[in-house]
Amino acid sequence: MPATIIVGAQWGDEGKGKATDLLADTTDLVVRYQGGNNAGHTVIVGDDVFKLHLIPSGILYPHVTPVIADGVVIDPKVLIEELEGLEARGLDPFARIKVSGNAHLIMPYHRELDMLIERRLGKAKLGTTKRGIGPAYADKAARVGLRFQDLFDEKILRQKLEAVLVHKNEQLSKIYNRLPMSPDEIAEEYLRYADRLRPLHADTTDLIHTSLEAGKHIILEGAQGTLLDLDHGTYPFVTSSNPVAGGALTGAGVGPRHIDRVIGITKAYVTRVGAGPFPTELFDEVGERMTDVGGEYGTTTGRRRRVGWFDAVLARYANRVNGLTDIFLTKLDVLSEFEALQVATAYRYEGEEYRHFPPHQSIFHHAEPVYEEVPGWGRDISDVEHYDDLPQAARDYVDFLEEQSGVPVTWVSVGPKRSQTLVRRDVPLVPTA
Ligand code: IMP
Repeated sequence: MPATIIVGAQWGDEGKGKATDLLADTTDLVVRYQGGNNAGHTVIVGDDVFKLHLIPSGILYPHVTPVIADGVVIDPKVLIEELEGLEARGLDPFARIKVSGNAHLIMPYHRELDMLIERRLGKAKLGTTKRGIGPAYADKAARVGLRFQDLFDEKILRQKLEAVLVHKNEQLSKIYNRLPMSPDEIAEEYLRYADRLRPLHADTTDLIHTSLEAGKHIILEGAQGTLLDLDHGTYPFVTSSNPVAGGALTGAGVGPRHIDRVIGITKAYVTRVGAGPFPTELFDEVGERMTDVGGEYGTTTGRRRRVGWFDAVLARYANRVNGLTDIFLTKLDVLSEFEALQVATAYRYEGEEYRHFPPHQSIFHHAEPVYEEVPGWGRDISDVEHYDDLPQAARDYVDFLEEQSGVPVTWVSVGPKRSQTLVRRDVPLVPTA
């Protein structure tokens, strides 16, 4: 049985949590492949709201094994808090979740440096989530990171900490004028976490491949989104990992031949948190209204998200760099508010028109969207149960996005609940007998 990748097609917060949760119904494993607790997924089941940061959304189905794979960075304190939160609500996450020993750890100095580096950048700051993500991935690339498996070997944990802290403490004290950190204190703290997290430590590569060999279906779940990708996003206003579909392969240790679906989660408009260019951004009352109706506040940091019209140039780009087979379109209901909708079909810069993502950052920074106006549908659609019952103008809007992005729209979400998802094309992830 093949695997499916679920990827954010914009700047994150597209509703991957809801999509993964819904599609996990027919899946055995949900594998988170990159990022850390910079992510925030809100999943609503009945009247219960779950806010997840590290734990794959599949946890809410008892038959699913959630996996945190090699490409993720883990803050063990946050992981334990999240596990305990789920336990308090009647789930048994300590017994079910499997974590790769190769996943890197976020350490106290990563969080501290994330904050200090942002502060020092002043106006040029990236607007990170200050969770230590960038510094943790930087240490991984510099080969001085600590990994989940190090938690369970006290000698190695202490040795690695001593070595890395020589350099980190110089940085903290000499560059940033902060107090040095004690290797012993950090070791004691992390060894306490180890006691709690030991049952989760697993050979996830073996688990994933044994599952694939046994004909089981797996979902590889990304965090953040295509435009926040370290290589393919709007650098330097990106995160420090690879949310794109290729990142799923390296992050989970799965070869391309196992993948048969790549689902791009795409909002019916666009949002962005943190700094960086955003061609279709709205600064007027329409934008205010979109933020409020869409509840566009970060799950992780509570920050107000920037909002803008749908951008087909970005959608085409997401299609190219991920090889999308489907779009899962979210939050269509939010647009019911507006009489007329704009869709950016190209950018204009210095007299030239760009249908595809421009090759140079300066073009993207100054790109002027070329809009096409389409009519709104003028009524609430959040209680519609079948795709064909949507107003004609709403279906026309979806058709237009599909035509513009070049990717079939398979699901359309009209509200946060599982039940508020309309199937537009009947192509289930796991074919029914
Ligand atoms: P970092 O991932 O904390 O280093 O932040 C880098 C950039 O990615 C900032 O602009 C963040 O706002 C953004 N970012 C990180 N995680 C998310 C997410 O889950 N959703 C949306 N934006 C995110």
